[in-house]
Amino acid sequence: MPERFITSTLNRRDPVKETTLRPPSFAEFPGQERVKEQLELFVRAAKQRDEALDHILLCGPPGLGKTTLAYIIANERGTKLKSSSGPAIEKPGDLAGLLTSLEAGDVLFIDEIHRLSSTVEEYLYSAMEDFFIDIMLEQGAGARSVRLNVPRFTLIGATTRQGMISAPLRARFGVNVRLDYYDTPNLVKILRRSAGILGVEMDDEGAEVIAGRCRGTPRIANNLLRRARDYAQIKANSVIDGNAARAALEMLQIDQDGLDDMDMRILEVIVANFHGGPVGLKNIAVSVGEEEDAIEEVYEPFLIQRGYLTRTSRGRVATPKAWNKLGISRTMSGDGDLFSR
Ligand SMILES: Nc1ncnc2c1ncn2[C@@H]1O[C@H](COP(=O)(O)OP(=O)(O)OP(=O)(O)O)[C@@H](O)[C@H]1O
Ligand SMILES: [Mg+2]
Repeated sequence: MPERFITSTLNRRDPVKETTLRPPSFAEFPGQERVKEQLELFVRAAKQRDEALDHILLCGPPGLGKTTLAYIIANERGTKLKSSSGPAIEKPGDLAGLLTSLEAGDVLFIDEIHRLSSTVEEYLYSAMEDFFIDIMLEQGAGARSVRLNVPRFTLIGATTRQGMISAPLRARFGVNVRLDYYDTPNLVKILRRSAGILGVEMDDEGAEVIAGRCRGTPRIANNLLRRARDYAQIKANSVIDGNAARAALEMLQIDQDGLDDMDMRILEVIVANFHGGPVGLKNIAVSVGEEEDAIEEVYEPFLIQRGYLTRTSRGRVATPKAWNKLGISRTMSGDGDLFSR
């Protein structure tokens, strides 16, 4: 993979590494205060009544803690969690197999729930609402269906694409929460905890430098911490201080505002090739040579949140902040726009 796909690389899931750094309880999970408060109360109430939790939908960009929260919820409720994902449940039979393997109160976690096929999704409706599914046996003239009862389970769905969840599915979740990017103090807490687990020494400045440049994303923070640890081990007495952190980030081509090479290319394409926009996603993707999905899920939300881009009905538009960032001034002339650096 070319160097420039830095954020997609840094935000890639690594189930093995992530398990070690995953907080097991709400108390050890910094940030997302409103979401946490809501979920904690909800878990306590269900526990007191000794009932299964209502179904929960967790939305938000990659790496912010959806999977982690699903495990915490099951943990705090004291139930088992069975994990699957939208693309893995190909046929209604796969869903039936999963559901019938559950015990009462268990959590079924479906990651990337927006990628469930519409057939499977329809089977899920009756399971969520009435705790049964009617499975068709055989096709054509001999077709008949059998009703399978399903134990009272809790579905926790996770998605990076809330807009792709159908209305009927969304309506069947009792709780629907959205995770947001983290602020620096919470990222510092996360980094300190991770550094402790990894056994790496890091000072306050080192933590703040990484926290300020990880796109508000714990997964990226943890991955940058690992890269900074490598750097410090070879070049800085194994201590991640401000200088070691800055040098490691520079090596990774992450600038002071936390933007990487791909962010800059996206902004540059919109500003220089499309006069600042509006420009459609497809055009951007083709011009920078990145997948549309990655741009929409990973790059764009961050650039919007930081005020470099806006999304309009006609496409993406670069803000004055983006023009400044690129050092390009926008000068109007009689024939249209002139660009100068
Ligand atoms: N609030 C937090 N505190 C500590 N660590 C966190 C927090 N949120 C996320 N992490 C860590 O960041 C990593 C990614 O989190 P997680 O896998 O839960 O993200 P996700 O939202 O499920 O991402 P994706 O959409 O890609 O599946 C994990 O290692 C997790 O431990
Ligand atoms: Mg996840």
